[in-house]
Amino acid sequence: MASLGQIIFWSIISIIIILAGAIALIIGFGISGKHSITVTTFTSAGNIGEDGILSCTFEPDIKLNDIVIQWLKEGVTGLVHEFKKGKDDLSDQHEMFRGRTAVFADQVVVGNASLKLKNVQLTDAGTYRCYITTSKGKGNANLEYRTGAFSMPVVNVDSNASSERLRCEAPRWFPQPTVAWSSQVDQGATFSQACNTSFELNSENVTVKVVSVLYNVTVNNTYSCMIENHLAKATGDIKVTDSEIKRRSHLELLDSKASLCVSSFFVISGALLPLFPCLMLS
Ligand SMILES: *[C@@H]1O[C@H](CO)[C@@H](O)[C@H](O)[C@H]1NC(C)=O
Ligand SMILES: *[C@@H]1O[C@H](CO)[C@@H](O)[C@H](O)[C@H]1NC(C)=O
Ligand SMILES: *[C@@H]1O[C@H](CO)[C@@H](O)[C@H](O)[C@H]1NC(C)=O
Ligand SMILES: *[C@@H]1O[C@H](CO)[C@@H](O)[C@H](O)[C@H]1NC(C)=O
Ligand SMILES: *[C@@H]1O[C@H](CO)[C@@H](O)[C@H](O)[C@H]1NC(C)=O
Ligand SMILES: *[C@@H]1O[C@H](CO)[C@@H](O)[C@H](O)[C@H]1NC(C)=O
Repeated sequence: MASLGQIIFWSIISIIIILAGAIALIIGFGISGKHSITVTTFTSAGNIGEDGILSCTFEPDIKLNDIVIQWLKEGVTGLVHEFKKGKDDLSDQHEMFRGRTAVFADQVVVGNASLKLKNVQLTDAGTYRCYITTSKGKGNANLEYRTGAFSMPVVNVDSNASSERLRCEAPRWFPQPTVAWSSQVDQGATFSQACNTSFELNSENVTVKVVSVLYNVTVNNTYSCMIENHLAKATGDIKVTDSEIKRRSHLELLDSKASLCVSSFFVISGALLPLFPCLMLS
């Protein structure tokens, strides 16, 4: 027969165990209640000397005061940028980013954590992390930021020539791109021996000005000058007829997958035609 003292003792033990279990549950629920949220980044390339955007989005949260955006860069102590309680907190910002960063404050509530980076430098390249906390939970995603220089080409008729020539010029490229010419009429033709490409170092000693001259061009034909490095691909088209000159330019940024193709193309062209930078792309 259990004594009254034993019953009371075991009751107290049971209550303690139940209470401890309840507390553990509450704590556990509290932690797991902070779900992980989806954060998405988009690879992009920065054009040095210009403003860039590091793109990041997250599951929107109407409680702006609970949203914390932190941008970090691998190998850099401190933060690239921090935004919390509806405003910037730059107390822990690394000096290399001082005065150069901004989030789009009015876009944060709809889940846009993109960072504007002013006056992009070559050294801004690297791995960034977009780290988000909201009332629903936390999440983060990495972004590979690549930097270089790319610009739109302009093709003109070189009027100071005895035979018709075209001159393709683009003011800023880095790293040094490959240049290729093609024409609509002579599809598959290679202009490697009919053109002359040169790269002139610009005054900041990093980017180059690209100039390519194509000889012996004919009227009623569309010529394309294509400039490409691992960051971007740009094309300048020109059509000269008896009565008019039509031009069109286009620039597209390449993702990392495409940049692999470019490097293999570069190796092939370097091995086969080391002396002729102008190639017809098949
Ligand atoms: C975020 O907002 C900025 C400014 O309106 C815009 O340029 C950018 O494209 C937006 N980013 C995304 C991923 O929606
Ligand atoms: C035109 O060609 C001549 C001789 O080749 C050269 O002296 C002159 O500088 C050229 N003019 C222009 C505007 O390129
Ligand atoms: C241009 O055409 C002429 C005549 O067809 C030829 O003699 C000359 O070598 C050509 N120039 C180039 C750069 O291909
Ligand atoms: C290419 O252009 C450079 C500079 O404009 C010139 O020195 C060189 O002779 C040209 N080469 C050919 C093959 O025309
Ligand atoms: C670029 O290089 C030249 C020659 O090496 C030098 O004189 C010039 O100061 C450099 N410019 C810059 C902006 O560094
Ligand atoms: C170019 O095309 C126009 C109209 O199609 C034609 O009248 C002209 O003769 C052509 N010129 C040459 C050199 O082929």
